[in-house]
Amino acid sequence: MEKVNLQGVRLFAPASIANISCGFDVLGLCLENIGDYMEIRRSEKAGIHITSIKGQDLPLEAKKNVAGVAGLALLEAHNPQLGFEISIEKNIKPGSGIGSSAASAAGTVAGINYLLGSPYTNKQLIPFAMEGERLACGTAHADNVAPTLMGGFTLVRDTNPLDVCALPTPLELTATVIHPKIEVKTADARAVLKKRVTLQTAIQQWANVGALVSSLYEEDYELLSRSLVDEIVEPIRSILIPHFSKLKKACSDAGALGSGISGSGPSVFALSKGMTTANKVANAMHEVYAKTDIPYDIYVSPVKSTGVSFLEDLS
Ligand code: HSE
Repeated sequence: MEKVNLQGVRLFAPASIANISCGFDVLGLCLENIGDYMEIRRSEKAGIHITSIKGQDLPLEAKKNVAGVAGLALLEAHNPQLGFEISIEKNIKPGSGIGSSAASAAGTVAGINYLLGSPYTNKQLIPFAMEGERLACGTAHADNVAPTLMGGFTLVRDTNPLDVCALPTPLELTATVIHPKIEVKTADARAVLKKRVTLQTAIQQWANVGALVSSLYEEDYELLSRSLVDEIVEPIRSILIPHFSKLKKACSDAGALGSGISGSGPSVFALSKGMTTANKVANAMHEVYAKTDIPYDIYVSPVKSTGVSFLEDLS
């Protein structure tokens, strides 16, 4: 039922890792310790009105902002007479590869849905949030917005019509992410990709995706480790990421199950069994980048089992 007396909501919109090595545009996971804070409030004025963005220099005009576009897509389908104000505390830097645009788009549609009394499931909200991705990079990919809305691991089997599966998360699986502070635009990182792959490469890639999915169900960390291989995208995109091969070696030496490019980069992620190893991997990443003049952030995070979290009702 619509929460008519509720004027607004404060929420946490988590970051995410898309692709997860072998699953380009298909696999994604939701992170617990990194994300944006947003407040969504009802407005008497129809439409989406972005009142403030702290932390990043992004357009306030709704049609030029991923949050605005996603919110407008939801209103268009639901009731264009309604109006909402959005303020965003942006902790995820756009162009970092950990789902910055997805967090803004998913946070907006989840917040509006919450105030409307949840007429849509998290899965049903994905197409609206995908419109934000279309604005951000020209392609309405769903591998960041799906885990950001649904939590955990997700697999996008198709986008038209949308078919998304929730996958289980092995209990001890922990992510380490380094964000080298250089910008790699998703549109550019997509433009460099080859449009064709050989049958032999495709066979290896879908074998790895299938095995990775199986490893999540079986909690088989060794199989997961063997499956975290990307034959198609990583060899090309890694050229855009300084010290990529050194990072990969350092992660593996520190005990990570595997590592790869987070989304379209430049962030690099590693997955480990347990927090202790994930912290060792963080130190190993630090050792590599401390020797460079590139500023960076490192995060260690469990996989967040639920997506956008509602923190406080606002009167
Ligand atoms: N699957 C998308 C890509 C994710 O790799 O281009 C972008 O974050």
